Formats: sequence, C-alpha cells, structure tokens
Amino acid sequence: MPAIMQLENVTKKFGGLTAVDHLSMKIEEKSIHALIGPNGSGKTTSLNMIAGVLKATEGAISFNNEVISALPTFKIAQKGIGRTFQNIKLYSSMTVLENVMVGGHSKGNLGFQSFLLNIPAARKEERFLREKAEELLFFLGMYHLKDELVKNLPYGRQKVLEIGRTLMGDPSLILLDEPAAGLNPSERLEVVSILVKLYKQGKTLLLIEHNMDVVMSISHKVTVLNFGAKIAEGSPMEIQNNEEVIKAYLGSKRK
Ligand SMILES: Nc1ncnc2c1ncn2[C@@H]1O[C@H](COP(=O)(O)OP(=O)(O)O)[C@@H](O)[C@H]1O
Ligand SMILES: [Mg+2]
Repeated sequence: MPAIMQLENVTKKFGGLTAVDHLSMKIEEKSIHALIGPNGSGKTTSLNMIAGVLKATEGAISFNNEVISALPTFKIAQKGIGRTFQNIKLYSSMTVLENVMVGGHSKGNLGFQSFLLNIPAARKEERFLREKAEELLFFLGMYHLKDELVKNLPYGRQKVLEIGRTLMGDPSLILLDEPAAGLNPSERLEVVSILVKLYKQGKTLLLIEHNMDVVMSISHKVTVLNFGAKIAEGSPMEIQNNEEVIKAYLGSKRK
C-alpha cells in the first residue's frame, strides 16, 4: 500500500524544550499505525501537528502527496483527516445525537446562521446530518442512547461517541489520541472491535495508545518515541522484542 501520510524531519520546540525531534515516518494507506512511547515523549504534539493545531518548528507533513503542514486546521480536516482527543471534548449538556451531528457541520455548505433562521435548505441539511448521525450511532452500537444527555453516559461510551463525531466528517485518516485510556477490559475490547471495523471499511488509523494489549493486537506497524525522537519502528512482534524499546518503555512499565 502507498503512504497516505508522510512526516519528514518534523520537529516541535516549545521554547528550549524539543517535544518532537526530527520525526520521520510513513503511514501506509488502509493500515492501523500505532504511535507509542512514555508520557511526555511527544505523541500528542505529533498528532497536533498533523491536525494543524500546532505548527511544526521544522520539517514537512504531507497527506496524499500534498504538503499540508502550512494549512489551517479546518482545511486539513476538509482534506479528510479526523481526530479524537486525549481528554474528551464533547458538549455534555447536549444529547448523544446532537454531539455526533456537530461533527458534520464543518462539511455543510450552509452557514450556522441558516440553521438559526430555519430556512428550508438548512432544514434539509439538518435532516441529512441527523440521518447520517443516526446511522453512525447504529454502527457504534449506541443508537439506543441517541437522546441521552452526554453527561449521563459512562466514560467508555463518551470515548466511543468521540469516534462517532469524527466519522461525520468522512475522514480517510483518523487520528486517535488514547481512545482506550481509562476503559475497563470489556470497554477496551469494544473500542478495539470498532477500530478494526473502521480499518475494514478502508480507513487509515493513527493510534496513540498506552494499553499494549490494544496496540499489539491490532496494529500493523508501531513507531516508538522517546524524548521526542523515534527509537524504533516495526511490526508489533519486532517492537516487543526490541532491546531499546524494552529499556526505554516496555521495561519501565513492568516495574
Ligand atoms: N503547549 C505546550 N507548551 C509547552 N510544552 C508543551 C506543550 N505541549 C506539550 N508540551 C511538552 O512537550 C512534551 C511532549 O508532550 P506530549 O506531546 O503531550 O507528550 P505525550 O502525548 O507523548 O505524553 C512534554 O514535555 C510536554 O510537557
Ligand atoms: Mg498525550
């Protein structure tokens, strides 16, 4: 498979701190690629640069062979890159369905004002968004919860809902920042099965994850960061047996 995304010598400095240090990597189209490393190793910062929330200090990021690192966030999203956040960012006083629908508005060609004015075209678009959101909730096994307020949902459901909201934008590449963090084993299995289903639909996933059971069971390729720099890359099996990775990361987790 060709690369859908390429990072070349991407560096991010915050003052004197180098959070990401000359990171180069390729993400193959229609694959699950994991980005792992100890806390503070630059994983979220890398994701934020890909999504355009942070600008790289140095280096280039390309998506489908086009350099995107200079584009604003909304343009990057429109190109087909979706993301979830390490800390959940949902509207807790809105319903499940409304939260998913919000993920679709950026793609609509009508402004928010038309919704307020309730003009017919806006009503039509809203109907479209609603149906699409309902379909996605069904896909995620959450249709029965569509009218619940998000604040009443267990944490695990909120994490799944974030994935649903991202899917409203029809991303071809989905960036997931610790989608299984804080989940119990059965919730983790549910997230794993959703990620595998997305992969089977032809999506490409870049996954930051601490739970090694999740990473090792579904990733095709794993990139390991330590102090912002790539220290290893390979199949889950290769990574599990890599001396430097064990020393820097896996070893320290066994203590
Ligand atoms: N906005 C910021 N300003 C200053 N330092 C930051 C900022 N964001 C992250 N950092 C620092 O950059 C390093 C990498 O952070 P991060 O990418 O969040 O790591 P990870 O996601 O791997 O835990 C850490 O030392 C962190 O404190
Ligand atoms: Mg992080």
